[in-house]
Amino acid sequence: MSFENIIFEIDGAIAVIRFNRPKALNAINPDVLKEVNQAMDQVEANSGVKVLILTGEGDKAFVAGADIAHMVNLTPLQGRKFSRDGQELMFRLEALPIPVIACVNGFALGGGTEIAMACDFIYASENAKFGQPEINLGIIPGFGGTQRLARLVGKAMARELCMTGAMISAAEAKEIGLVNKVFPPDQLWEETMKTARVLASKGKVSMKAVKQCINRGYEVDLRSGCYMEADGFAVCITSPDQREGMTAFLEKRKPEFKGELS
Ligand code: CAA
Repeated sequence: MSFENIIFEIDGAIAVIRFNRPKALNAINPDVLKEVNQAMDQVEANSGVKVLILTGEGDKAFVAGADIAHMVNLTPLQGRKFSRDGQELMFRLEALPIPVIACVNGFALGGGTEIAMACDFIYASENAKFGQPEINLGIIPGFGGTQRLARLVGKAMARELCMTGAMISAAEAKEIGLVNKVFPPDQLWEETMKTARVLASKGKVSMKAVKQCINRGYEVDLRSGCYMEADGFAVCITSPDQREGMTAFLEKRKPEFKGELS
């Protein structure tokens, strides 16, 4: 399948979706949402893929937000649909049974910060910029920003960012806990790939379980989350990956995980 607004590649266990509208700083319109969903169909259908990386084409932007030219004349119903379609894509990223890394190589504003937040974690280049500038356009975040930002960095910081529309640097984003690691621009990709290879070496069953437990468990009370964890633990404890992981430890060798998702 060929794409016009993204570049999609699978190299062994690692899939990469690269937002590819550099002239509009990779801004998101419905075509982009559609193509990312199509790429994710392929990721889900390919049992060999163990990690997904999202990044932006060019050296300036990850995603500079939803496409303002697309939004300028939307009706309320069209606006609601665009927002819901974006939100569903974010939920889909969170529900994907494999880890998703946001490799933020430049501006990640509005929808860009929102996409990055729906990934499992964010690696950013020193020149990356984050923010929810929607207030400057007379709107509010529409792809889950008001919700995920508050959960990730706390209500006060989320209110400040969404109410002022201020852009923050990668270093500030790391300080508030939005970004995991910051790298010089020329090292960002290799560092992201290094971590992707580490993630790809782990067992799929336990990776799916840990992702689900953290993401779903965070939405419920502690006791319910711990029940989810016990269920995930039970699934893992009888899996081929568990036998391989523990046997390898006892035999003092590196494990070779081959387990399939149930
Ligand atoms: N939508 C559409 N086009 C965009 C865009 C966006 N979000 N962001 C940048 N572009 C376009 C510009 O219009 C410009 O196009 P032309 O060359 O045809 O004029 C091109 O990309 C380059 O942009 P700039 O000339 O503005 O580049 P700059 O370096 O001077 O500034 C910037 C970079 C600070 C990121 C600036 O482009 C900017 O502020 N962009 C808008 C950011 C924004 O407001 N994002 C939030 C959108 S709303 C949203 O995302 C809602 C939601 O939650 C779903």
